[in-house]
Amino acid sequence: MDYFEYRAGRLFAENVAVADIVRQVGSPVFIYSARTLREHYDKIAHAFAALDPLICYSVKSCSNVEILRLLAGLGAGFDVVSGGELFRVLKAGGQADRSFYAGVGKTDEEIRYALSEGLFMFNVESEAEFENIDRLAGELGKKPRCALRVNPDVDPKTHRHTATGKRESKFGVDLRRAEEFFARYGHAKAAKLVGVHLHIGSPVYTPAPYVEAITKTLELINRLRAAGYKIDTLDIGGGFAAWYEAGQTVMMDDYAEAIIPLVKDQKLKIVLEPGRYVSCNAGVLVGQVQYVKTGGDRTFVILDTGMHHLIRPPLYDAFHFVWPVAPGDDLSPVDRVKEPTLKGLQKCDVVGPICESSDFLAKDRPLPPVARGDLLAIFSAGAYGMAMASNYNSQPRPAEVLVDHDSFRVIRTRETYEDLMRGEG
Ligand SMILES: Cc1ncc(COP(=O)(O)O)c(C=O)c1O
Repeated sequence: MDYFEYRAGRLFAENVAVADIVRQVGSPVFIYSARTLREHYDKIAHAFAALDPLICYSVKSCSNVEILRLLAGLGAGFDVVSGGELFRVLKAGGQADRSFYAGVGKTDEEIRYALSEGLFMFNVESEAEFENIDRLAGELGKKPRCALRVNPDVDPKTHRHTATGKRESKFGVDLRRAEEFFARYGHAKAAKLVGVHLHIGSPVYTPAPYVEAITKTLELINRLRAAGYKIDTLDIGGGFAAWYEAGQTVMMDDYAEAIIPLVKDQKLKIVLEPGRYVSCNAGVLVGQVQYVKTGGDRTFVILDTGMHHLIRPPLYDAFHFVWPVAPGDDLSPVDRVKEPTLKGLQKCDVVGPICESSDFLAKDRPLPPVARGDLLAIFSAGAYGMAMASNYNSQPRPAEVLVDHDSFRVIRTRETYEDLMRGEG
């Protein structure tokens, strides 16, 4: 699953004690495990090998350039959603022609940048966007490959904020409109409409929604092919679930087993866009207890980190396992579950320093006794953690550290007050 484990009552990232990292780097800090990143990527490559897919790691989930470099070294392509993400990928040595540009609001400047770098494909979300890409490509003398993002109206059974393939979502066009789209733009001058893209949401905890969405989309592709359009690529998106809480996820092999038979003989290049599956459990966020306070019937554990560094709990009601970095042998957890069965635990709210009631990382969570100065680890924070972090309340963002076997290095230094003021005044 990952390489964060308790040994003799202390949390280790691979072979490095987390407390040793904090001693040298300070708190709060995101700590990533290189071995976990590699293994998760390899699991996808292995499970889907029969399709020889293009695996485009979803940069938005965790975009540190060193992590992109590690994944580029494994052969990953990249799913980017902005000029900034493309810039990071290129800095990391990623290949533009193995990268896919998605997103509903591409600006002219971003489109020109992507055109000049020669991406594998653009996904297109609307008629107006296609016309714009076609126009800009014509001006630059480019012939970009494009995939139409379709919205197959499938319920991914996930949080409403991350369901993206239902009829009412802002993404893509519905299947009926997709045929009109090809009729209108299938023979455009510059931009070549040769693919179909879908991403139904994330995390998707069972293979069934993928099967439903892909089946509907293949029917569309068949109709389009019968009408004379050449479709060579199907991007089935990301959303492959990560293990936030024991028992909630499926294995990559289960997704592959359900998906491969559907697409294997369809003469399509298959693109996958995994994000959290690769990065989520490859990272923990570590914070230090500033104060323990009681109020009403609650105990608040107040950290030097919070929603500004990991916004998923208030934004998506997301569960992240939280536990001390050095609880001792008797209180080391076996499973990362909401209700551990260890003795001597006390229910607490784990909160941050931000002036918002929504600034919490865990609510009503049984924890071992903790005191000022203790370190707590927030698990499964590798995806949509630092990538969504902000400077709200003028809080500097944490350092990022990459552990590899017995050693670690800082891959992003902690922000300073000077960093906060850059460009102002
Ligand atoms: C188009 C697209 N592809 C891929 C992803 C990655 O999702 P996940 O990190 O759940 O795999 C997202 C997430 O929002 C997305 O919008």
